[in-house]
Amino acid sequence: MSRTTAFASVAASVVLAVVAACAQGPATTGSAPAARPLLAATPPMGFNTWNRFGCNVSDTLVRGIADAMVSSGMKDAGYQYVVIDDCWQVSRDSTGRVVPDPERFPEGMKALADYVHSKGLKFGLYTDAGDRTCQGRPGSYGHEDQDARTYAAWGVDYVKVDWCHADSLDAATRYTIVRNAFRQSGRPMVLSICEWGQNRPWEWADTVGQLWRTTNDIWDSWQSMIWNADANARHQAAAGPGHWNDPDMLEVGNGGMTLDEYRAHFSLWAIMAAPLIAGNDLRHMSDDIRDILTNKEVIAVDQDSLGVQGGVVFDRGGGVQVWAKPLADGSAAVVVLDERTDSAGAYVRWADIGLKNGPATVRDLWAHQDLGVHTDDGTFADRLTTRVPGHGVVMLRITPVKQ
Ligand code: GLA
Repeated sequence: MSRTTAFASVAASVVLAVVAACAQGPATTGSAPAARPLLAATPPMGFNTWNRFGCNVSDTLVRGIADAMVSSGMKDAGYQYVVIDDCWQVSRDSTGRVVPDPERFPEGMKALADYVHSKGLKFGLYTDAGDRTCQGRPGSYGHEDQDARTYAAWGVDYVKVDWCHADSLDAATRYTIVRNAFRQSGRPMVLSICEWGQNRPWEWADTVGQLWRTTNDIWDSWQSMIWNADANARHQAAAGPGHWNDPDMLEVGNGGMTLDEYRAHFSLWAIMAAPLIAGNDLRHMSDDIRDILTNKEVIAVDQDSLGVQGGVVFDRGGGVQVWAKPLADGSAAVVVLDERTDSAGAYVRWADIGLKNGPATVRDLWAHQDLGVHTDDGTFADRLTTRVPGHGVVMLRITPVKQ
């Protein structure tokens, strides 16, 4: 199969799967299927404490992040969830109820969730499918129903469920128990499955959670980011509205990459319809970092309602690749990636990105510019040429002109 045909067929099968999923609605138990809202119809967007703050989480931090999410324009750009990762919990009480750290969260989780909600945002927490979290805090094993009821009572909207201390367990079984507990709680809560792709979640998790990690943890480096992007790209066909591959949270703004590298990171996550979960300190961002995280034209590619995960459609060799993603309005999003350190010339052919030859308008999503004219008849007829910065990308939206 040619690359173009392969791409078109992945896109078509994803569209069919989406239509089927919407027609059926989420899987139900019992004989009278109750309508459930489709959670995460587009990839979840938000913030998580782990990448930047590790165990150093607190009520003050989370309130500050929620404030900054609003004042920085991130909420307007689509970010919703404020998620506390590991280390918020210290023990269980005599009834088995999980206890938040009383020093770091003196007002408790309900008050904090209320605060986050008062900003028009949503609130998330973290637990583990095993009996301890990765940092040794209480996990949810054997407490799934109780924890789900507790989260629901606090007003939790999103739960990341990790996989430490779970080696002897069956992932599909354990995460299904968590999913059922969430359903029983009566509160819609996004289930973020975090077993690092060890149990092939792309084969079973689409009816269990709304997103699943496909990789090990990301680090704030170009190599780690590219590694996670490549690994995530292998599971293109499994993604769609309500169920997304997750190559891990964003490192944009944490200081280990250049601005070009962070633009590449954000562009690759967007073209793969990955969850956009910021992992930097939103309270202290440079304008450059804020402009990356709030680039609405790139975010629109990630959040496109068709819900197709894009992937590599042409590999020029030598580290230059063209990635493409079909969009609901008939246009194609394109990322031209240069993995080398030198800048490179590259071309994008309509035939590679799932478009028919013919005139098309081209928009540069980082320059926020409509590009000039390259061909005799005043249009891009079947390709364009471009120049890509080393360790960087050019990101485009290419829209066929109706004739
Ligand atoms: C695992 C997860 C990370 C983070 C840490 C917390 O490593 O993959 O994303 O949640 O645990 O301990």
